[in-house]
Amino acid sequence: MEQIGTVELYQPRHTLIGRDGILKIPQFLRSLNANKVLVITDKGLVKIGTAGKVIAVLDEAGINYVVFDGVEPNPTTRIVYQALEFFTKNGCGALIAIGGGSSIDVAKAVSILSANGGKIEDYNGVNKSAKSGSPIIAVNTTAGTGSECTAAYVVTDEKAKSKMLMVDPNCLTYLALDDPMLMVGMPPSLTAATGIDALTHAIEAYICSVPTPYTDALALEAIRLVSKSLRTAVRDGSNMEARTDMCWAEYMAGLSFSNAGLGLVHGIAHQLGGFYNIPHGLANAIMLPRVLEYNRPYCMGRLASVAQAMGEKIDSLSVDAASRKAIEAVRKLCTDVKIPPLCETKFSMNDIDVLAEHALADTATLTNIVRPTLDDVKTILAKTYFEGIIMKKVNANG
Ligand SMILES: [Fe+2]
Repeated sequence: MEQIGTVELYQPRHTLIGRDGILKIPQFLRSLNANKVLVITDKGLVKIGTAGKVIAVLDEAGINYVVFDGVEPNPTTRIVYQALEFFTKNGCGALIAIGGGSSIDVAKAVSILSANGGKIEDYNGVNKSAKSGSPIIAVNTTAGTGSECTAAYVVTDEKAKSKMLMVDPNCLTYLALDDPMLMVGMPPSLTAATGIDALTHAIEAYICSVPTPYTDALALEAIRLVSKSLRTAVRDGSNMEARTDMCWAEYMAGLSFSNAGLGLVHGIAHQLGGFYNIPHGLANAIMLPRVLEYNRPYCMGRLASVAQAMGEKIDSLSVDAASRKAIEAVRKLCTDVKIPPLCETKFSMNDIDVLAEHALADTATLTNIVRPTLDDVKTILAKTYFEGIIMKKVNANG
């Protein structure tokens, strides 16, 4: 691999992976010396008691905190400003995000805005802030987005109906925490979608235009772990070995893409999320196989390695055939964990022009292994949509 210049690597300041990691939050908080902490979460996690488990630890330790539970999936600029107001009005000095990518991304946006001022749009793109953000403890409750360990966050621009992707090391968390005990209550559909999101991070980082030996190693092991344990985690949510494997997979996949890049799957998925509010993991899972088919001619050797990491036997196969095996394995995994087709979402073929245009401009698309054209993206969307309809008919006819 030819490498030009020095590579800077990003990771959280501290990481805890494993059971009961949340009990250690107070010791990390004390080292931050914050008078008050803003807890950012969503009403669903409050209702099912997941947020309460973390809050009980804060109460026990006598931590001074306030709670903002207004995060929604695909969080918008409006939600970011509401949380920011909570942070400043209450004189907070640090953040605890409890949730998946949505809560952690809102915390990152508040962190950057509270330290740097301005509007969230000012930070859309790469390395746009000047100062480190307010410290964040990210308590991840899904095994997918990797947001607890990445230098990126996504906010939906509600006026443009698109997503802004901010890539910014100043938003890296002080503590990333993946506790499989918090994931036990995750329903099978969410486990599936977020698990395929992690797989997408690893595959896109591995076949992107700027991988490194470091990101390759993380990606391949993440792919292996998802292939080994996602089906079990979906089928039996209380299987701690599978949940722990998924914690490692999602963390390693997150570090991999945060230090390499993503690709067109995310470029399109961001638009499906911004336009129709399709959950991020689901949008990625739906688009992954077809985008891999599009990218395959440009990364056959790497896709052959993906097939191997997924447990496929490729020794007697040509590189061409082995690369096809990777896509077959991805399709099979998506089917096994019951990812629905695009035609079962709010997607409409009438929006294909604007979706494709925004996908091309998305920061994630910049590191796709090949630069797609507008027609390429429209074709990928149309094929994904119509093949879903065909598959539904085939399945309905038995
Ligand atoms: Fe993602």
